[in-house]
Amino acid sequence: MQVVYHDVIIVGAGLAGLRAAVELAGKQDVAVLSKLHPLRSHSGAAQGGISAALGNAEKDSPEWHAYDTIKGSDYLADHYAVQVMCNDAPRAIIELEHLGVPFSRFNDGRIAQRPFGGHTRNFGEAPVRRTCYAADRTGHVCLHTLYEQSLRKSVSFYDEYQVLDLCRAEGFVNGVVAIELKTGRLVMFHARAVMFATGGYGKAWKTTSNAFANTGDGLGIALDNGIPLQDMEFVQFHPTGLYQLGILITEAARGEGGVLRNGKGERFMERYAPSIKDLAPRDIVSRSIYEELRDGRGAGSMKDHVLLDLTSLSREKIAEKLPEIESFAKIYLGIDPSDVPIPVLPTCHYAMGGIPTDVNGRVTLDAQGKEIPGFWAAGEVACVSVHGANRLGSNSLLDLIVFGRRAGKDINRFLDRVCLAPLPLATDSADRVRGMIESFMGRSAGETVASVRIDLQKVMMDRVSVFRDEQGLSDAVEKLAVLQERAAGIRVSDQSRSFNTELLEAIELQHMVNYSKVVALSALKRRESRGAHGRDDYPLRDDAAWLKHSLCFLEENGEVRHTEKPVDLSLASSRAEFVPKERTY
Ligand code: FUM
Repeated sequence: MQVVYHDVIIVGAGLAGLRAAVELAGKQDVAVLSKLHPLRSHSGAAQGGISAALGNAEKDSPEWHAYDTIKGSDYLADHYAVQVMCNDAPRAIIELEHLGVPFSRFNDGRIAQRPFGGHTRNFGEAPVRRTCYAADRTGHVCLHTLYEQSLRKSVSFYDEYQVLDLCRAEGFVNGVVAIELKTGRLVMFHARAVMFATGGYGKAWKTTSNAFANTGDGLGIALDNGIPLQDMEFVQFHPTGLYQLGILITEAARGEGGVLRNGKGERFMERYAPSIKDLAPRDIVSRSIYEELRDGRGAGSMKDHVLLDLTSLSREKIAEKLPEIESFAKIYLGIDPSDVPIPVLPTCHYAMGGIPTDVNGRVTLDAQGKEIPGFWAAGEVACVSVHGANRLGSNSLLDLIVFGRRAGKDINRFLDRVCLAPLPLATDSADRVRGMIESFMGRSAGETVASVRIDLQKVMMDRVSVFRDEQGLSDAVEKLAVLQERAAGIRVSDQSRSFNTELLEAIELQHMVNYSKVVALSALKRRESRGAHGRDDYPLRDDAAWLKHSLCFLEENGEVRHTEKPVDLSLASSRAEFVPKERTY
């Protein structure tokens, strides 16, 4: 098997991976592997913006930003990590501007800022304009800029290489095994440091804003290697996915003045969040939409969706600030949002949980913060715990940029002071991968990937979605155990080597089933409602029993082991604003 060496291997070419690469380039020999072309990474789909208390539109402060983030998280976010992110945000935006990101501007030339859900001034007083943007293509322009900067700094790219496993030696992570999609050949990448920035995992749900690639490969590989996943029960449904398609319609549409209406034409968010209405955090808006549907106030002949009404916005404003969603509405639904409201429904959008890390992106293995040396993670695959039980819109791009850079800096320190030479490469992971591929391709009988995946997506959508309860979750856990066996018995009929997508999907399916088991089991265990985790049978938040993170391991027999980890509440000891309390908006 071919072996390739670089000092640092970054897996994933979205914003977290590229920001780390830019930090490392010029100091270390750094390579980025991606199963896609980098510019197709899902960060490019982020529309509405990136938050930072720049105060360009009105008075603002990082402390108010931290307060909103912690309250928005339903008090599960770790305070120090949130402080790090919010304090660094203004610097991070100016840095992006200097790297070349073409932000939208106010007339005086400063970076424009718009309101977004849950972002307020003066500890919850009223919505604040904190989200910087480039029309509704913010992720797209950030991705292009960082890709250009990576090329300028001679980062090596391995496009269309799918990572299959980690390599480990003497307790360190020191490489990965990957498959080159074009040839089907396996390659071992040997390194002194490995970083996962592999993104999210929304494809386990039937309706999602996530790209096809978002199959949680990094999470699956972590589980296979005995690394736990944190807070996986918290999966965010974005309130405004295009009806029946799930394609994202940015929250910026509401930030710019759009409102949600039920089938009776009522602006129903006035009832659920009287103070900030349509700009309440996503967990609250998504739940409110389903309440309306449950009570028979949906729109359309089936009363099964609500409407996003932009008709009060001028045609010019929509064209300037929301061009992307205007074209989505026209292309996919054949409607002009200036004339008629857009039919929408919540869509699976973002994972708050992931591989646990510290604020420098170092992967941690237990509640005490024990590290696995040589391994970093950042972005949606990671859980540094700045989003807790519910992420605020536009905090995600910020998370990628801030913690991608910090991981890059920390890797630099590690390579300069700790791991001065590469550790010998073991071949056991390559043997494991080869065995798995041979078993999928060598079978004469077995189910197809699609049949198992469809059933998985249905279980997750029906049972592990916005509303949950004991019976549905227990049923999901049972069904997932069966799906795990079915997935292991898949037969790949395509025997070709070049771009064998059937094989790649079979491998992705193993990850999807494994992390879905963790999501369902942690949701079953958590007998309370908090943020995006809404239990019909336990409708209240229960801080006495559940103000803690979940930390789950996948045992060798395929069972999930559930443990817990304390929440960092450090700000609450000195500031009353940060003490957990009932969330009202
Ligand atoms: O609504 C949006 O534009 C999505 C942004 C985000 O998830 O942060």
